[in-house]
Amino acid sequence: MLVTGKELVGKAEKGNYAVGAFNAVNMESAQSIFAAAEEERAPFILQITATTLKYTNPKELVALVKALIERASVPVALHLDHGRDYATVLKFLRFGFTSVMIDGSLQTDGKTARTYEENVEITRKATEAAHLLGVTVEGEIGRLGQIGVDITEEDAALTLPEEAEKFVKDTGVDLVAVGIGTHHGLFKGKPIIRHDRVKEIAERIKMPLVMHGGTGVADEDVQKAISLGIRKVNIDTEIRVAFIETMKKEIKKMDDAHRQADASEGIRKYDIRKILGPCREAAKEAIAAKMKLFGSSGKA
Ligand code: G3H
Ligand code: ZN
Repeated sequence: MLVTGKELVGKAEKGNYAVGAFNAVNMESAQSIFAAAEEERAPFILQITATTLKYTNPKELVALVKALIERASVPVALHLDHGRDYATVLKFLRFGFTSVMIDGSLQTDGKTARTYEENVEITRKATEAAHLLGVTVEGEIGRLGQIGVDITEEDAALTLPEEAEKFVKDTGVDLVAVGIGTHHGLFKGKPIIRHDRVKEIAERIKMPLVMHGGTGVADEDVQKAISLGIRKVNIDTEIRVAFIETMKKEIKKMDDAHRQADASEGIRKYDIRKILGPCREAAKEAIAAKMKLFGSSGKA
């Protein structure tokens, strides 16, 4: 059943766990998320980035996801991940998304930082529109980055508690994505998670916090961050790794079978399902493990 992001993270706040937010890009990746949630009896957020809707026809992918939501027996929120401008947010609101992220910390190039004032302006505008439709809004203050790799300890890219407090007052968002030492994708070594920042920000703004770049964060760091106020954990790369590493194995198996067929003058067999089926299963296992780790299993 389709719910808003706020409904899901509100329950997570009360239950002291986090909701997993998982990125889908095609049928099999979307199905793997739903299958994991049904198995784990876990509420979850299905998120799609604007760039994914450039890869495929928006209406087709959204129609597929909505068909999966219709069949789901656990609560799901449909979320725009990393919307970088107002027009994108409006487009996803029109698709019937129940939660949107306006990522006002970076310009639309996804690299250059916006000023605080620019971030507030675009976030406030998107929040007004989304709230008129009862849709949840996630904003971002501070920047993602791995301490010692992309940013230094002193780097202001980490979210400043006092700035987070001002940001929430200036924008009216429902969820705040914070810079606490994570970044998207795989890490070089073990990332340093600034739990002190999570604690201070959560105590100041008293609202659910979002961890981006969840892939590769040590289990104990994820659970500690959840105990301090992280209520939404985003996972994308972990799904891609499970999917593509399995694909490599399955293609090797098919290659071996073809070599045998060639050697015995047999006929080569090609079946896309033989490759993507195991990929879907491997992604489902990885996602189910995260739902358990976040404490969301059994909370549907
Ligand atoms: O918005 C999506 C997440 O932040 C993805 O992060 O690819 O490191 O899991 P990840
Ligand atoms: Zn992210």
